[in-house]
Amino acid sequence: MPNKVDREITLDLVRVTEAAALTSSLHLGMGNKNAVDQAAVDAMRGMLDYIEIKGTVIIGEGEKDEAPMLYIGEKVGTWNEDDEEYDIAVDPIDGTRLVAYGLPNAISVMTLAEKGKLAYLPTFYSYKLAVGPELRGLLDIRSSIRENLRVAAAALKVPVSEITVVVLNRDRHKKIIEEIREVGARIKLIGDGDIAAALATAMPDSGVDIYIGIGGSPEAVLAAGALRTLGGELQVQLWPQTEEEKEKLLIEGWDLNKVYYTEDLAGGENVLFSATGVTDGDFLKGVHFYKGKAITESIVMRSKTRTIRRITTYHDLKYKTIRLKSTDGDSKLLNIHKKREDYMGGGI
Ligand code: FBP
Repeated sequence: MPNKVDREITLDLVRVTEAAALTSSLHLGMGNKNAVDQAAVDAMRGMLDYIEIKGTVIIGEGEKDEAPMLYIGEKVGTWNEDDEEYDIAVDPIDGTRLVAYGLPNAISVMTLAEKGKLAYLPTFYSYKLAVGPELRGLLDIRSSIRENLRVAAAALKVPVSEITVVVLNRDRHKKIIEEIREVGARIKLIGDGDIAAALATAMPDSGVDIYIGIGGSPEAVLAAGALRTLGGELQVQLWPQTEEEKEKLLIEGWDLNKVYYTEDLAGGENVLFSATGVTDGDFLKGVHFYKGKAITESIVMRSKTRTIRRITTYHDLKYKTIRLKSTDGDSKLLNIHKKREDYMGGGI
């Protein structure tokens, strides 16, 4: 007897991230981060109602009192008696600023795992190292940058000068960036969006070998959800921001030297992942509008079978509807677009 969830939900997941990408992309370049985020959250939450699962949001928009939708602990999906139970991590937009300013590499993303299999990381930030399958198991987040680059170059059989490392462009990464430059590897500094950066390491032809640096902890779990199927590796350490936070964590019994590996972050046999490009990126095109159609590019994967699907979808603007949670019903994308124009005070 085929498992209903295995057979049916990956395509449903794509519809969820597509919807979030479509609605948020209506705000491309308008300089309004909140509008980008709200549009994505509303569509993602609305579309999740259609998925035949018993879903619980484990990583979402925050605690219940601070987030009206996609809050931690929120039940999503149909919750029919015979639905499978899943824990869900969502990032309706990774790179809200990128969308607000029309910059590359923003994606809408979610990952699902069996109940209890997505990690809870207590810090806002984590120190992360991501690599693709060829470097899996070879680097160590606790080693120096120099040593890791030496090992990577030897394993890939290229000079260090041909290795490309992605780092978030932040002051806190000054030392990391200096070290990479000293060793002579290439650096790609990004403004935001480290889920896409971590995934790029495992994508053939992305031109990215390593992602390293301190970024959001939720983003680490989401990236791990994809790397499970892609065969890459994520190593993560908790990154408290102050001495007080550090002490609090130690009192609570957290091991700050512990390295979390991909399976610790997104475990179990069946990890599902879907991402849709919002703005053009290293491995996904963003939402394009062309002759009455919106075109989206997504990637959806399932660790159990290692199946990776790349999906290009042509949404006819005359017919395309999206379920928004705020209205608890389906709205035509054209009307959502129209509403945005009203809100902006006229045409685009
Ligand atoms: P948002 O889209 O949620 O703002 O996240 C963007 C992002 O760049 C993440 O990809 C990254 O993990 C995190 O922010 C880094 O945090 P910060 O901007 O505080 O350095």
